[in-house]
Amino acid sequence: MKKIIISAVAQNGVIGKSSGEIPWHSREEFQHFKNTTSGFPVIMGRKTFDTLGKPLKNRLNIVLTRNKKLILAFTEIVILDSLHSAYKYCESKDYEKIFVIGGTDIYKQAMNTADELLISYMKFNAEGDVFFPEIDLKIWEVKRIDGRNEFDIYTYVRKI
Ligand SMILES: NC(=O)c1ccc[n+]([C@@H]2O[C@H](COP(=O)([O-])OP(=O)(O)OC[C@H]3O[C@@H](n4cnc5c(N)ncnc54)[C@H](OP(=O)(O)O)[C@@H]3O)[C@@H](O)[C@H]2O)c1
Repeated sequence: MKKIIISAVAQNGVIGKSSGEIPWHSREEFQHFKNTTSGFPVIMGRKTFDTLGKPLKNRLNIVLTRNKKLILAFTEIVILDSLHSAYKYCESKDYEKIFVIGGTDIYKQAMNTADELLISYMKFNAEGDVFFPEIDLKIWEVKRIDGRNEFDIYTYVRKI
């Protein structure tokens, strides 16, 4: 099962605001995210789920929390207590790939085990205080770049 980190990153590295507000709206990037992830599980941290407010359609939504008492109003969401259990759960359902969709806390942990990074580098700076973790080029190499109007999509694969 291929584990893919997907993110949209502004030129200054910003991916979000700790207040939960989303710092930009790009219909083009949203469409890319939707097309890429539809039909596959999306794994996210509880804070990212809070910013979304509802599950993403046509995808198995897995929310990670350490809060054993967390209850969400959406019964279709799978709530788990570690990345490892999320991977095991998806493996048991025979998914060919899964997407780790953020935020920073979850990205940092998933970088160690991910097979691929799919990063939309937006062509603008954004206001915010949540950043994508550093991509170590000793570990990752760029396999492909796809240009779009508002962003370039970099696919990184693991060297080691
Ligand atoms: N631009 C993008 O592509 C993009 C994508 C996603 C998110 N974002 C932004 O990122 C920000 C949120 O990121 P964040 O780093 O603050 O939070 P986050 O990663 O979304 O969520 C962190 C929470 O996940 C849970 N968690 C973390 N590690 C866990 C583990 N190993 N096992 C179980 N649960 C675990 C904890 O929830 P509990 O506190 O409930 O225990 C923790 O507080 C928002 O601003 C959002 O808009 C941007």
